[in-house]
Amino acid sequence: MSARVSLTQYLVEQQRANGNIPPQLRLLIEVVARACKRIAISVNKGALGDVLGSAHSENVQGEVQKKLDIIANEVLIEANEWGGHLAAMASEEMDSIHVVPNRFPQGEYLLLFDPLDGSSNIDVNVSIGTIFSVLRKVNNHRGVSEEDFLQPGKQQAAAGYCIYGPQVTLVLTLGDGVAMFTLDREMGSWVLTEKDVKIPSDTKEFAINMSNKRHWAPPVTRYIDECLAGTTGPREKDFNMRWIASMVADVHRILCRGGIFMYPWDAREPGKAGKLRLMYEANPMGFIVEQAGGLATNGRQRILDITPTKLHERVAVVLGSRNEVERVTRYHQEGA
Ligand code: AHG
Ligand code: MN
Ligand code: MN
Ligand code: MN
Repeated sequence: MSARVSLTQYLVEQQRANGNIPPQLRLLIEVVARACKRIAISVNKGALGDVLGSAHSENVQGEVQKKLDIIANEVLIEANEWGGHLAAMASEEMDSIHVVPNRFPQGEYLLLFDPLDGSSNIDVNVSIGTIFSVLRKVNNHRGVSEEDFLQPGKQQAAAGYCIYGPQVTLVLTLGDGVAMFTLDREMGSWVLTEKDVKIPSDTKEFAINMSNKRHWAPPVTRYIDECLAGTTGPREKDFNMRWIASMVADVHRILCRGGIFMYPWDAREPGKAGKLRLMYEANPMGFIVEQAGGLATNGRQRILDITPTKLHERVAVVLGSRNEVERVTRYHQEGA
């Protein structure tokens, strides 16, 4: 039997090889991974754990919060605030940033998360996840404010997600490729199961919520219509479609076998750039996808180059297999 590599061992070996994982960052990753184990246990209990259904409150995004949105948010905060590795946290489920309380030492990192991604799938027992992004607090002034978080995604020190599906899998990048760890439930440990994930450059599979078709901009309609035209259309091949409505699950499939994922701008909310959140969803997923050899744009611009103007900023997202994302981006440049 080949030796099993744990998350801890992977991080220590990465540090030895590349020197890119300071002790605070290693602690941060391990603490987030432990919090995800805790969330996985709640997700698993389902109806037996009184974790299903609505919490009857609304988040700053105007979405009704599910009980698990709130539980996962609390687990991540509690797990992370005492370790001395963080200055502050920001979350899809919190109006403003959570500064590490004075009773704990202040660290040099900022943690951002979507505690529970795919909320609409919780109650129907379909894969959901947790997405996280790590930034350095670049200003050395005392204290921390929302301003400190407004950094482009290319400055992320790390990003990852955990998918709670048939298996619980943690996917991680520290800027040097993408690794996957599967949770060994009996042992309670993360085991390295894929150490250099690569997304194929070409694909015959797209993921988009087709019910919004009438609201799309012309470049998106053109791209999807061409896919739908099949072997007799301009693409001269048949495409398959998947839409799980959990970004983690759709992105995970793309990391495993390729594909393109789109949540484009649509005409329902002209003032907003898109539905997904730049800092909790698009940036961490964009970083992971690029590190796996794919691309992530908003149709016009690389996601990781966008400088946020506010914490809960939204963005259109096109990501996945390189040649398909390039095509969609080109259609936007051509105007349709
Ligand atoms: P969240 O549950 O964190 O609010 O995110 C849901 C997101 C994303 O995971 C998914 O791709 C998308 O919303 C699904 O949206 P539709 O229900 O509009 O398809
Ligand atoms: Mn939500
Ligand atoms: Mn989400
Ligand atoms: Mn969420």
